[in-house]
Amino acid sequence: MSRLTDLIAQAKAKDPQMGMDLEREFKALSSRLAFGLNFERHRPEVVELPKRPVRKGDKVRVLPERGSTTKGDQRLWAVKGIEKVKGKRIARLELFGCAEPETQNVAIDDLVVVAEFRDYIYPGLISTGKVERGGDKPCNTVINGENYHVLKALTYTHRGKVDVIYIDPPYNTGAKDWKYNNDYVESEDLYRHSKWLAFMERRLIVAKELLNPTDSVLIVTIDEKEYLRLGLLLEQTFPEARIQMVSSVINPKGVPRDGLSRVDEYIFLLQFGSSRIAGDVKEGSGGTEVRWRGLTRSGANGVRSKSPGAFYPIYFNNKGEMVEIGDALPLHLKSDSIVSPKGLTAAWPTPRPDGEDGRWSVVPETLRGLIKRGAVRTGRVSLADGQFPIFYLTSQQLAAIDSGELEVRGRKPSGVLKVYYREDGGRISAPRTVWDKVSHSASEHGIMILRSLLPGRKFPFPKSLYAVEDVLRLFVRDKPEAIILDFFSGSGTTAHAVMRLNRQDEGCRQCISVTNNEVAADEQKALREGGLRPGDADWEQWGICDYITKPRVEAAIMGKTPSGKPIKGDYKFTDEFPMAEGFEENAEFFTLTYETPVAVSHNFTFERIAPILWMRAGSQGMCIDTLPAQGWDVADTYGLLIELDQTATFCSAVEKADNLRVAYIVTNDDRRFQAVARSLPDSVEPVRLYESYLSNFKFANGE
Ligand SMILES: C[S@@+](CC[C@H](N)C(=O)[O-])C[C@H]1O[C@@H](n2cnc3c(N)ncnc32)[C@H](O)[C@@H]1O
Repeated sequence: MSRLTDLIAQAKAKDPQMGMDLEREFKALSSRLAFGLNFERHRPEVVELPKRPVRKGDKVRVLPERGSTTKGDQRLWAVKGIEKVKGKRIARLELFGCAEPETQNVAIDDLVVVAEFRDYIYPGLISTGKVERGGDKPCNTVINGENYHVLKALTYTHRGKVDVIYIDPPYNTGAKDWKYNNDYVESEDLYRHSKWLAFMERRLIVAKELLNPTDSVLIVTIDEKEYLRLGLLLEQTFPEARIQMVSSVINPKGVPRDGLSRVDEYIFLLQFGSSRIAGDVKEGSGGTEVRWRGLTRSGANGVRSKSPGAFYPIYFNNKGEMVEIGDALPLHLKSDSIVSPKGLTAAWPTPRPDGEDGRWSVVPETLRGLIKRGAVRTGRVSLADGQFPIFYLTSQQLAAIDSGELEVRGRKPSGVLKVYYREDGGRISAPRTVWDKVSHSASEHGIMILRSLLPGRKFPFPKSLYAVEDVLRLFVRDKPEAIILDFFSGSGTTAHAVMRLNRQDEGCRQCISVTNNEVAADEQKALREGGLRPGDADWEQWGICDYITKPRVEAAIMGKTPSGKPIKGDYKFTDEFPMAEGFEENAEFFTLTYETPVAVSHNFTFERIAPILWMRAGSQGMCIDTLPAQGWDVADTYGLLIELDQTATFCSAVEKADNLRVAYIVTNDDRRFQAVARSLPDSVEPVRLYESYLSNFKFANGE
């Protein structure tokens, strides 16, 4: 071994990069496990960053001519300088890793910047749009980017803060379903398994830094192609986790496999710290009746304007019986503009304390369905006093009935269900490890739902919305403020499922969805032949993130397709309501950018660092997206101080603001930073910029 170490030292002296590469390989070999999963880590991955401007010092590739479908020159070149020649920007290039450097001059437009995964990156985010229907709830985010780099970015904003990671990675089918080093991995590739493992391992190692070590879960779906190797990889990467695997029927029709009909895939569940499956019924002890919920919606979202469809009359006869459900009123009409049918009295949602119209918790169609099911009852009605207490069973309670967690002991004469916590102290039997539910069928409840939301747009293999909802519910039912991350988010099913869970219990969970903007393999050829290249707007518009993920999340929230038409169809199972109703949620869409540390530390890139600061403080409320002229600013969850002579004014504004979590202080001087930090309330975390940002990416990055 020492001979080898000597040789590596000699190699390092001659060619530092080659020496370091040799050392890495040597370390990898010498740390090979005697038993377990051994695989080639492969040379570091590289990605092309088509939209990143070319700068001096960058690593680039020369693109094939427009119109060509060839792969082009794959060698890496260093940009030694950039000059303007006859109005055109030309780069002087030098080939990497050659004793006698080859050089050439190439127009900037024909170059693409390449990032090797061992390079440091300094991330930024550009907002590409937002949807706001959720008042002051935290915002869901969708990020278009290479997930390895976005995960790195999240080490600054969400280190140790994520409650659930759900991923559905490429299954390595050989059918152009993923790329390693910019190339599809085909089934003939002898290294396809080790490439896939190297790709997954890199991402899982960073993802681990994001999970809350004391209580979180990692959920990974996979099929028969890689589940054996993935199982070992997960065990080795997360030795501290409790690991279980579920078999889940997702294709009841089946696909032929060696004389069998394969109907299922697998879900690995890795639990960390005190994570447990939400099985306990928290309130009420065994044998007592469940608590029904009041139909008038409470809380900040209980205002008519938040859901005009939930403001309608419920009619009672003169015996005080609920007999008819009216239709929703257009927003401009008041309740007194409606004349009740003869002999009937109308009940309306209880007004808000400030006199504004309130609203019911569900729309008329849903209420009618609940009544049919026996899930609506009234309390002591008094026509004379205008008292109409109405109660209902929430979709969560109905799901608990379906799963056997709550017990139905018959019906009242009116047909209303009698629902009890189980005698065994409210504990339910644990969910089983084989799932076979019609609601989990990917074609019915994945493809078909996507078709309703985005008519005419195709995405291969979305998960069933309800399958994702069910698996998440196991872990976030008792965590209404959970942060859920999906870094292979594809069509955005996870974000959609999180929004459904929030609706079921008025939760404020937030989902971070990350996916790249790949254009489907079969469409790329035509685009290339038409003279387009990745990075061109006409190319990027067809990418998964811009064409599917972001529009899907927007459509789900607004209840409208991209062309503005109300979405046809109803949600099913646990919470049935028209898709056109949408969700009271917020979402903001971003694209990842790559910055230089010098520009960051000089505030030149503030607009693109701003969303990262906002996310670190909870992705809620206003984002300070330009440098404040007065030298400081305070948003909903964080403050920013740039001019330190404004410290006193800033600190008093921070004192006055509620819910402030972080104060970012821009200074190179640690003593002055400490002085400001001391003047801040204890509840506010002081963060020095850009020191904390730069050091996060300097030390946490690089392989
Ligand atoms: C199997 S799909 C996920 C489908 C998703 N669960 C759904 O229901 O729509 C995997 C997705 O990961 C994305 N992806 C693959 N490699 C990636 C990478 N390196 N960075 C970011 N996204 C990637 C692809 O865009 C693809 O859509």
